[in-house]
Amino acid sequence: MEIAFLPPSGLASAGRIADLVNLVYAESEKGLWRESTDRTSADEVGAFVRAGEIAVASVDGALAGSVRVRRLDEATGEFGMLAADPARRGAGIGRELVRFAERTCRDAGCREMQLELLVPREWTHPSKQFLADWYARLGYRVTHRADLAVDYPHLAPSLATPCDFLIYRKDLLA
Ligand SMILES: CC(C)(COP(=O)(O)OP(=O)(O)OC[C@H]1O[C@@H](n2cnc3c(N)ncnc32)[C@H](O)[C@@H]1OP(=O)(O)O)[C@@H](O)C(=O)NCCC(=O)NCCS
Repeated sequence: MEIAFLPPSGLASAGRIADLVNLVYAESEKGLWRESTDRTSADEVGAFVRAGEIAVASVDGALAGSVRVRRLDEATGEFGMLAADPARRGAGIGRELVRFAERTCRDAGCREMQLELLVPREWTHPSKQFLADWYARLGYRVTHRADLAVDYPHLAPSLATPCDFLIYRKDLLA
């Protein structure tokens, strides 16, 4: 498996990356939104590619996963839109993408890593529970928990169920 940031010349892959992200999020956010809404679009991913924020994992030249990595401030990096090809689940693609994101940010001088997670408040979503357990194993801790409808009021009408918005952080230097 190879992992690397897509150069601007990789813009042609933006559509396939958006398709992968939308496919996996449709499952991992099932039941959270009133109507099936896409997580992203080729245009949005294209803008992230141009900004140098999209890293892809490839196996034998084929897209196997992707992640968006960016710097929030001098000391803090963030990863998001993490996706692994469902046909290759459990092969370490997600874990290596997270490692890559953390290493990139540490090498750039960041002391902390951040990620965001949306979870239903009144029931347990298996994909979200898996992520919460996994992020905890990786050393991430919840530093902010809020009602999504309060933090992002414009999203409230689209929610199918009350959701909490969690921010996780990890000390990259520990
Ligand atoms: C999250 C996701 C990227 C993980 O990708 P993956 O390549 O399948 O995961 P990995 O093989 O790297 O395994 C990750 C962890 O899950 C564990 N795991 C993998 N498959 C498992 C299974 N079937 N049962 C239990 N644990 C499993 C691995 O042991 C590993 O844990 P460890 O790092 O403590 O050893 C992938 O499930 C996905 O695309 N999910 C949908 C999108 C999503 O929810 N993104 C995150 C939004 S914040």
